[in-house]
Amino acid sequence: MNSIIKTKNVKSDGENAAVPKHIAIIMDGNGRWATKRFLPRFAGHAKGVKTVNKVVEACVNRGIEYLTLFAFSSENWRRPQEEVSLLMQLFRKVLVGEIRKMGENNIRLKVIGDLSKFDQDLQELVRVAESETAANTGLTLTICANYGGHWDIVNACNKLIAKGIGQGEITEDMLSAHLSMAYAPEPDMLIRTGGEARISNFLLWQLAYSEFYFTDTFWPDFDVQALDDAITSFQKRERRFGKTSEQVQVQ
Ligand code: IPE
Ligand code: IPE
Ligand code: MG
Repeated sequence: MNSIIKTKNVKSDGENAAVPKHIAIIMDGNGRWATKRFLPRFAGHAKGVKTVNKVVEACVNRGIEYLTLFAFSSENWRRPQEEVSLLMQLFRKVLVGEIRKMGENNIRLKVIGDLSKFDQDLQELVRVAESETAANTGLTLTICANYGGHWDIVNACNKLIAKGIGQGEITEDMLSAHLSMAYAPEPDMLIRTGGEARISNFLLWQLAYSEFYFTDTFWPDFDVQALDDAITSFQKRERRFGKTSEQVQVQ
């Protein structure tokens, strides 16, 4: 707890806030981390889970309200079958193993993405983990699994059509409200580890005004100091939302 960042001048909309209210992370570089060490790619994923635990704990300690992690994209099915099934096993293990700790840390778990493609038992584990943590009031931890930004937007459109919303009636607020992360404010900051500077079909709608932070560090090497470096970078930025710098400063 000694590394808590002091909050100052926190506004409810996150502007000028000392810590971002919502951090989203593309956890990339597990495979290259392992390959560099002559280890199988899976060793990188296993080490990556350890980083997840450390980053979640750090976010709890820093009073961050929402942490959203990209764990498996809708495009990741294209990987070798063996890697996909090892990733599924790891997801199972994490769900079973971490649920008690989430209770202790007052964490509310959410899993978003097209879960219908997962095995029934995994879908059931997700349902149990979500319902057991639903009343927790601390950090909302969202795991994006079989998630794709395209899927999310199309899904929202289909929900609106199913409600009988007619041509010309869809508004931005309505579409937002039907996205799978409608319960959270849009991310203030997106972190991508692993050196690539792309979104890879992550939260396409919700990242419209997020501050991007790219680091070459592979996800298994990302640590609490690296998280604090990202938060420090965020704190130095001026979020203008289309306005001029002068307008933002007089607010
Ligand atoms: C991210 O690491 C984890 C997943 C996509 C599941 P990668 O597995 O993409 O690692 P690299 O990019 O190959 O190093
Ligand atoms: C993005 O990483 C998905 C996750 C981190 C889960 P990828 O490694 O799959 O991204 P691309 O394919 O290199 O863009
Ligand atoms: Mg990758």
